Amino acid sequence: MQTTIDGYGAMVAGGQVYSWIDEPSARAAAPVLRGRSVISDLDLSRAEVDALVETALWLKTQRERGQPHPFLAGKSLGMLFQHPSTRTRNAFQAGMEQLGGHATFLGARDLQLTRGETLPDTAQILSRYVDGIAARFGAHDELIEFMGGASVPVFNALTERFHPIEALSDLLTLHDRFGGLKGLHLAYVGDGNNVCHSLMLSAAAAGMHFSVASPKAFEPDPTLVERARELAAQAGGSVVVTSEPSRAVTGVDAVYTDVHESLGQPDDPQKRVALAPYKVTSSLMAEARPTAVFMHCLPMQRDVEVEAAVADGSQSIVFEQAGNRLHMHKALLLLTLG
Ligand code: CP
Repeated sequence: MQTTIDGYGAMVAGGQVYSWIDEPSARAAAPVLRGRSVISDLDLSRAEVDALVETALWLKTQRERGQPHPFLAGKSLGMLFQHPSTRTRNAFQAGMEQLGGHATFLGARDLQLTRGETLPDTAQILSRYVDGIAARFGAHDELIEFMGGASVPVFNALTERFHPIEALSDLLTLHDRFGGLKGLHLAYVGDGNNVCHSLMLSAAAAGMHFSVASPKAFEPDPTLVERARELAAQAGGSVVVTSEPSRAVTGVDAVYTDVHESLGQPDDPQKRVALAPYKVTSSLMAEARPTAVFMHCLPMQRDVEVEAAVADGSQSIVFEQAGNRLHMHKALLLLTLG
C-alpha cells in the first residue's frame, strides 16, 4: 500500500515514510540523517539543514491541518537534562508524542550519576532502552564523554559551547518569515555565547550574512568565527564581528539577542557591566530595515538585554520563534529516528 499525503511529496507505505519533500537535494540528504547524532552545527551539511527546514515546514502544515502524523510509533526518546528547560524539553516531549512515540524525562539528579556512575556507562545503558537521547549538559566535554558510550543518536539540547537545535529552529522561523535564507542579514547583539556560536555557523552555512556585536571580552570563539567565515565563503554569505551594535544592525533583516547571564553560569558583575551597552533598544532597532524582526531564544529579561518595548513590540517574533521549536525538533526526530 502506498499513499501520497500531500503536495510536499511525502509518501507512506505501511507506516514508513519514504520521501519528505519535493526539493531533490534535500530528499537526497534525508536518508543520510537516519541514525545520526547532532552535537554541533558542524555536524550537518547545508543540504541536510535544508532537509530539516523543509521537513519542519511540512510537519507544521500537518499539525495546522489537524493531520495525524504518527511516523515514530513504537520509538522512544530519553531526555537527560542537567539544567532546567521550558522550550527544549517540552518541544522534544510534545514532538515525540505527536509523532506517535514516547519520551521519558531523566533529570540528572534522579540517575545514578549522583553516585558516581560514569557518563559513558550511563549512555551505554540508556542506549539499550531508547532509540535516541536528548541531552543538556553544562560542559560540552561532558556531552562528548557521554557520546562515547552511546550507540543511539544523541541530540545536543544545549551545552555552554553550542545550541544547535535552537539555531535550526531559528533558521526555520526566518525561512517561514522571509520565504528563504540565502542572502538574509541577521545581526546578533550581546554575549558571544553558545547561541551566538550556533547561529553564526548555521547562518553562514545557509549563505546568510551574519554580524555580531559584542564587547571584546565576550566575543564569540575566534576559531568558530574562522570556521563560520569558511562556510560563508562557500555559501555566498559573510561574517562580521564588531564591538559596535550600530555597525552590526544597520540595514539587517533580523536582530537577535540572548540573556546576558548564561544558563548554569554564576552571576558575573563585570560581564553585566560590559554587556549593558549591548541592550537592544527601539533606537537600535530603527537602524535595521523597516521590515526587520526582533528575535530572542528565550527566556528573556525585559529591560536588561532588550527593552520591553522591543520585546513586546510589533517587530518581535519571539513567541512565533519559540513555537517553531516544536516543528524543528519533530523534523530532527523524524529524519534521524524514522
Ligand atoms: N531557548 C531555550 O533553549 O530555552 P529552554 O532553556 O527553556 O529550553
